[in-house]
Formats: sequence, structure tokens, C-alpha cells
Amino acid sequence: MKSSTNYLRFSFFHRFCHFLIIVSFFGLVLTGMPLAFRGYDWARWLYELFGGYPTAGFIHRICAIITFFAAFIHFVFLFVSISVQKKKGFFWGPNSLLIQPRDVFDIVCDIKWFLGIGKRPDFDRWIYWEKFEYLSLMWGTLVMAVTGLILWFPVQFTKIIPLTVASIVDLPSIALIVHRYEAILAAGFIFTIHFFHTHLLPEKMPVDEAIFTGAITEEEFKHERFIHYKRLESQRQLQNCEVAPPSLFVTFLIRLFAIPILIAGLVMVGFMFSALIVWAL
Ligand code: HEM
Repeated sequence: MKSSTNYLRFSFFHRFCHFLIIVSFFGLVLTGMPLAFRGYDWARWLYELFGGYPTAGFIHRICAIITFFAAFIHFVFLFVSISVQKKKGFFWGPNSLLIQPRDVFDIVCDIKWFLGIGKRPDFDRWIYWEKFEYLSLMWGTLVMAVTGLILWFPVQFTKIIPLTVASIVDLPSIALIVHRYEAILAAGFIFTIHFFHTHLLPEKMPVDEAIFTGAITEEEFKHERFIHYKRLESQRQLQNCEVAPPSLFVTFLIRLFAIPILIAGLVMVGFMFSALIVWAL
């Protein structure tokens, strides 16, 4: 249990969206990768585990619909916040998830720190690699959704494009190639860089609970996002962000859910990379 003062980092809505993404992404990877690596025993075993044909394909489509739902409610949230509630700071400033000039400065400082020629930089609410992950999730979801829908409804999509183009461009084959390699890129990125940047840091092991409980301790806040902490303090808003620390039972439930998923992701990326190395040789 975290004993010091805890502060709210993620609202319930954002935690719910992230939960939907975890569940749907895992479902999509576990039912999609066996098709991309169909020549391997582990892939055949995994496909059968999810019911084989056509059940695994059915689960893949259900998970795709959950992804669409998560994207939909995220954009409704953005629309309501920006256009209806007239909240500021979504496109510019320290609360924005879009790249700002300050991020370039932070990257340079971080590289200097890695090389031992500068001090560790202080970050604001969103660190540059978190922005990069958010923007790649947006872009990746769009690519996977468009190509996935073409694979799902190949006849309808081929009818949309002009006949002259359809006769020379095999739309479903192009969609399959893009869908397959973007899937490998996305799963490879999430199961290595995202996992190691968040959950598998020595101070977070085995799970960074903040995305499930929404809370971070005062020490974590100061260590990870000192500029944000100081700003809230100077604006006298820090106290408004205080929340109760998560109970031992909640921590236990989070670990029960997250640790098997982390292990499954690491095993999956091991299988995928070993297969890619065999392809490359
Ligand atoms: C978000 C919307 C998505 C939709 C609508 C979608 C739909 C599809 C469809 C219809 C197929 C054809 C296979 C079948 O009939 O079962 C497929 C294959 C596949 N999907 Fe998805 N998918 C989506 C997202 C994802 C994501 C996020 C991943 C993994 C990161 C993924 C990984 C794969 C893989 C690896 C294949 C096999 C491609 C091959 O045969 O090589 N999909 N998907």
C-alpha cells in the first residue's frame, strides 16, 4: 500500500478507456498473430486455444468493435470538452498531448543525461515519450481499423473504388500486407517499449498501478513530473487533486489482472521475434 499523500493522475473515464484498449488489443493480437505466423506450432496452438476457425475470427471482430467503441468515446470526450465545455489547453500548453517546442528541449536534455553530460531533466504533465505513444496509438488505430474493415468487407470496399483502379489494384491484398506488418509493429512496440517504459522500470515493477487506480504518490509525482507538481502547488490546486491511497485488496486485484497480461505480452513478443529472425535468415 502507498503510505504518503496520493494525487489523482488519471480520471475514471481515462482509466476506463485504457482498460478497453488493454482488453481489445490483447484479444486482437492473440487471435490475429496466429494467422500472420500460421506456419509455427505455437501459432496453431494459440489459434485453437481461441476456438480455431471461425471462432477466433469472430473474437477478433468483437475486439475490433470494442476498439472502435473506445476510440468513439475518446473523440466524444474531446468534442464535448473543447466545443461544449470550452476547456482550453488541448492543443497548446503543458496539458496538451500534442508535441510542443518544450519536448524538443526535453529530448535533448534526456539524451545528454543518458550520456552522463547533463542532469536529469524535470518533466511536465506529459513526457515526450508518452505523447509519442498517444499519437502512435491514434495513427495505428486508424491504419488497423481501415485495413481491418477492408479485410472484413472486401467486396463492399472493392465496389467503392473506381473499376479502372480496382482492375489494377488488389485492395484486399494491400490491406492484408499493411494490416499484418502494422500489427507486428504495434504489438512489438507495446510489448517491449511501452511495457519497459511503464511497468518494468525498477521502481514500478511488476506493475505501474497508476493507470488502474488513477493515483500516484507525492514522491512519484515530484520525481516524475516535478514541473507539473510545482505548477499545481503555486496555483494552490494540489490539494484538490488529493485522493485516498488504494487499498491492499485493490492492489492485489490489479496485480492479478495485470501480471498475467504482462507475461503473455512478453512471451508473445518472444515468439514473434524468434519467428521474424528465422524469416530473416
Ligand atoms: C481495429 C480494427 C481491426 C479490424 C476491423 C480487424 C479485422 C481483421 C480481419 C477481418 C482480419 C482477417 C482475418 C480473419 O478473418 O479473422 C484480420 C487479420 C489480422 N489482424 Fe486484425 N483487425 C483489427 C485490428 C487489429 C489489431 C490492433 C491487431 C494487432 C495489433 C490485428 C492483428 C491482425 C493480424 C496479425 C491478422 C492476420 C493477418 C494475416 O493473415 O497475416 N488486428 N483483422
